[in-house]
Amino acid sequence: MKHLLKLSDLTKEELYSILDLADELKAERKAGIKKPYLAGKTLGMIFRKSSTRTRVSFEVGIHELGGKGLFLSSNDLQIGRGEETADTIRVLSRYLDGIMIRTFDQKEVEDMAEFGSIPIINGLTDYAHPCQVLADLQTIRELRGDLEGKKLCFIGDGNNMANSLIVGCILAGMKVAIACPADYKPDAEIMKWAEATGRFLCTESIPEAAADADALYTDVWASMGQEGEAAIRRKAFEGYQINSTVMTYAKPDALVLHCLPAHREEEITAEVFEAHAAEIFEEAENRLHAQKAVMVKLMA
Ligand code: CP
Ligand code: NVA
Repeated sequence: MKHLLKLSDLTKEELYSILDLADELKAERKAGIKKPYLAGKTLGMIFRKSSTRTRVSFEVGIHELGGKGLFLSSNDLQIGRGEETADTIRVLSRYLDGIMIRTFDQKEVEDMAEFGSIPIINGLTDYAHPCQVLADLQTIRELRGDLEGKKLCFIGDGNNMANSLIVGCILAGMKVAIACPADYKPDAEIMKWAEATGRFLCTESIPEAAADADALYTDVWASMGQEGEAAIRRKAFEGYQINSTVMTYAKPDALVLHCLPAHREEEITAEVFEAHAAEIFEEAENRLHAQKAVMVKLMA
């Protein structure tokens, strides 16, 4: 494992070894133990989009591992003025020990890995959000045990979150059902790959997708960069919401997860959100542990 560009690059063993290390690091931190696995190392964190969780959890994470995080806004870097990715990464490879990048185009992340000589971590693109899904899997396993055979249902936009959840959950041995409008399906290649496992369903029917789910998941209807489509999307996604009726389709003890930020009364009601706040914020905390595990795997 040289980079974390998307979850489909991982083997099942690699995925589980990250989750195991994330659990270990979480337990160590709870016991007040912080081992300097990355003493003297520097992580550059490039952001072309906003962030609360990713930015703070990576910066705190590298600090707790004994290293240093550099927040690099694309507004201040020359890439914001058009400097080539291939040039930027060849320069940054000479200063840094790793890069986390949040951007629009998955190709920019893949190009960094191709032209650079340090580990690249995808901190969200329009295509994927692998770090989030590592934290999600850690959370489901922590709260409900063994992932094999468990069912996750995602309701909403077939976006970066849906794409990474499909890959991550299937790779972990789970079943995945997506409920989305016909025009907002996840990536076609990812769906084809998932369908071949016999553990995947994509439907417009929420009751069908949510049936017997161990975890229900949703995300905003308009992602970063889609703000101009917000009104059209509000119409298209009407009804694609986790609410108390949808909860009755899932298992009685079903978890509710959300990558955050959340828009109450759009993709999730305030009532369901608050009833499941404990697991949603455990999930947010696990970003820290899962990403520390990724950094140790890639940069130590
Ligand atoms: N879930 C997530 O990635 O949050 P941020 O956009 O705040 O980083
Ligand atoms: N789909 C959302 C996820 C935010 C963490 C977005 O891309 O904005």
